Amino acid sequence: LPSSTDHSPTPAPAAAGRSSRLAVVGAGAVGTSTAYAALLRGVARHVALYDIDRPKVEAEVLDLAHGTLYTGSSSITGGDDPAVMEGADVVVITAGAKQHPGETRLDLAATNVRILEQLMPVVQEQAPDAVYILVSNPCDVLTLAAQRISGLPAGRVMASGTTLDTSRLRWLLAQQAGVSRQSVHAYILGEHGDTEFPVWSSATIGPVPILDWRREGRKVFTEDGLDALADQVVNAAYTVIQGKGATNYAIGVSAVRIVEAVLGSQNAVLPVSTVLDGQYGISDVALSVPSVVGRGGVREVLEINLSAQELRRLQHSAQTLKQSAAELGF
Ligand code: 2OP
Repeated sequence: LPSSTDHSPTPAPAAAGRSSRLAVVGAGAVGTSTAYAALLRGVARHVALYDIDRPKVEAEVLDLAHGTLYTGSSSITGGDDPAVMEGADVVVITAGAKQHPGETRLDLAATNVRILEQLMPVVQEQAPDAVYILVSNPCDVLTLAAQRISGLPAGRVMASGTTLDTSRLRWLLAQQAGVSRQSVHAYILGEHGDTEFPVWSSATIGPVPILDWRREGRKVFTEDGLDALADQVVNAAYTVIQGKGATNYAIGVSAVRIVEAVLGSQNAVLPVSTVLDGQYGISDVALSVPSVVGRGGVREVLEINLSAQELRRLQHSAQTLKQSAAELGF
């Protein structure tokens, strides 16, 4: 039985009981934070980290492995041999160039699409049945490219998309409202980037429409206040990159939240990005809308009610992303 001297981890959640395998491509700040979050949350029985930089990936794997007495029952291996990804059920792709201060996510498109063209066949050979989660930016453009390169069904290839931005939004709203983040129901949709937007028309706190929420008898939010808050979300990554050169923890745990939904067959509603096929009048572009995520990937793309302005903003995101992909031949 556990005692104060017992180092057993807390009971493992989600999929740790099964022989689930997660592969993370890229041993940079985002890839290692993803692997670390996966170990802490116990979402897969086995985590593999792959990178072409052998000394780096071997050192990262050692550092992660050294803590596994305290993380959970998942194991970690990795290296520069693609075979480390063999049989993966989920592959999270974080490889590629990152934004420098002053750059947008779309500025990375050409470099990272070319990397993906090399990478996808290599990964697919090792993990032919995997669900793919694209995290490298611009993640929506890369999702379209990965789906086209691989020929996989649209639901098997998704981007973390605005899962992270939605977490940023709920964190800000929860602080102002004085409630838990889990009690805030609001989404950021569209591009994971500068054209993303909040869906205020259906946002609630518990069951209360957001503009009606009161704290100590007073209304907390105004339309202008909400828009200012959404601007903070859109600029959040720029703020973090300015200060520390990258974002890694929040995106790592956001990616793992999606992995958990897939490996745990959760059918969780998450704003991930997949190639749309007529939903909202949009086709042949990947962007985030609320989707049911479970075994096998995205099982359903939800068509929710949007205000006319929100629908225009979604279409604007689609146009922006289409143009970026077209410039690269997708
Ligand atoms: C983020 O939003 C940079 O896309 C990355 O944190």
